[in-house]
Amino acid sequence: MVENTIKFLLNNEAVKIENLDPNTTILQYLREELFKSGTKEGCASGDCGACTVVLAELDPEKAGQLTYKSINSCITFVGNLHGKQLITVEDLKDGAKLHHAQQTIVDNHGSQCGFCTPGFVMSSFALHKHNQKPNRDEVLEALAGNLCRCTGYRSIIEAAMTSSEANQDDSFAKHYQQTLVALTELDKLPKPILNGNGNTYIAPQNIYELATELTNEPKSTLVAGGTDLALSVTQNLAVIKKLVYVGNVAELNTIEETESEIVIGSALPYSDFIDTLHHYYPDLGNMIERIGAKQVRNTGTLGGNIGNASPIGDMPPALIALGATMTLHLNGTERTILVEDFFLDYKKTVLQTSEFIKSITIPKPIAGQTLKLYKISKRLDDDISAVLAAFFIEQIPTDKGQKITNVRLAFGGMAGIPKRGPTAEAALLGKHLTKESVTQAKAALANDFQPMTDVRASDKYRMTVAQNLIEKCYLELQSTHTREVIETRVVNY
Ligand SMILES: Cc1cc2nc3c(=O)[nH]c(=O)nc-3n(C[C@H](O)[C@H](O)[C@H](O)COP(=O)(O)OP(=O)(O)OC[C@H]3O[C@@H](n4cnc5c(N)ncnc54)[C@H](O)[C@@H]3O)c2cc1C
Ligand code: FES
Ligand code: FES
Repeated sequence: MVENTIKFLLNNEAVKIENLDPNTTILQYLREELFKSGTKEGCASGDCGACTVVLAELDPEKAGQLTYKSINSCITFVGNLHGKQLITVEDLKDGAKLHHAQQTIVDNHGSQCGFCTPGFVMSSFALHKHNQKPNRDEVLEALAGNLCRCTGYRSIIEAAMTSSEANQDDSFAKHYQQTLVALTELDKLPKPILNGNGNTYIAPQNIYELATELTNEPKSTLVAGGTDLALSVTQNLAVIKKLVYVGNVAELNTIEETESEIVIGSALPYSDFIDTLHHYYPDLGNMIERIGAKQVRNTGTLGGNIGNASPIGDMPPALIALGATMTLHLNGTERTILVEDFFLDYKKTVLQTSEFIKSITIPKPIAGQTLKLYKISKRLDDDISAVLAAFFIEQIPTDKGQKITNVRLAFGGMAGIPKRGPTAEAALLGKHLTKESVTQAKAALANDFQPMTDVRASDKYRMTVAQNLIEKCYLELQSTHTREVIETRVVNY
């Protein structure tokens, strides 16, 4: 059964969309269809945060609760609104009273030309919905995807740091139960479709519907968060004939743990699995916190990051280094392959027509294993890597030091696909981790890669930094080991 409309709450009002081109972004819909111009367009590519709005959804983890997430409306298709509450800056006020997230900007002189202000306000609003007293780091994380060209950040940060018990009785809190009921009703609706301008958007609800859809219409384009795909529409003016949204497919939105593995559904946004990965692999958690900004991590997915087959995607090198596998689904049949075998050539993968990524399986660490990750980019936050280095090293202690029994050195940004450096690995495998073996591995890396020059870095820079990261990893492991030995001696003494 299908429903030929997109139904959602716009602030506290039930709204439906019919006969609209599904290539329309939420930002275009707000500004050009509803003439709600509070939400601004700065870059139309997810970089500046001026277009930030908040989506409230039923919390899949906690029955009877809502989650509030900031997103970039300029790179999210309007179909993704189905079943959610869209909160925009126009309706934050409660009657004539400014919302706390707005009033603190006024009180702290956090706005000059005001162009960026609605975006900052919405990011702050989303933060305070889950965190009444955020610390500075939490505020910086929440606001990293918002840029201001005139006010400067001190006053905006101070505004967002202000404790906000006042949020508890804003108009959304007052309508909380009503919203829960309305979203629960929307959740029961059959899969939605949006048709307009001869283009179609459909949102299957289970893996069978998704597989059938792709088998019947193999030329369909999958969309998850859209943080990559939507740019082809907003920047390259592409028109996508048929969009198939994976965000409602239950089986693709799970995270499960076994004794030895973590299995992440391909359509689960980063924000929903970052804590689990941080727990097992702190370096990986820290790196994911540098993928885009909060708005991008609230919608972007692993399936999209691998599926776009970009040579500069951050997750593939990390997954390759970890020996992760992925399960692919084609019309009821599944196969599991190593992530490293997924990529064939620049933007070419082993994915067959109508096949899609179902899940990614990451082994849990065991004693003696280390994962080290290094993201090299011009800015700390919200920037694409020039080089991403992911090193997995397994060692056993011997009387001559730590001997390497397993090693995977994977890189992004160094070739047309994310890949390992086999010659450099061979220089380390079976050896002790010493200055000499590391020097050999650094030299060997030149046989594994011939990086390119582009706007992010020159070929020479890429090679030099990749080689130096092997040494950095060695030095860090040495200092960890030395610290452990000293600590053991201190304890023994
Ligand atoms: C401002 C900004 C900053 C960014 N920063 C980073 C960064 O620091 N590091 C980084 O790696 N990336 C970054 N990205 C790129 C992007 O956000 C990520 O790659 C993200 O993980 C893409 O996921 P998505 O769900 O949005 O993919 P989508 O845009 O929905 O899809 C991307 C591609 O994958 C395909 N696809 C989606 N799901 C599946 C599936 N289940 N099976 C098969 N194919 C599928 C789609 O058809 C499409 O071709 C950034 C993007 C923006 C806009
Ligand atoms: S307009 Fe810049 S992030 Fe959307
Ligand atoms: S107040 Fe002008 S861009 Fe921020």
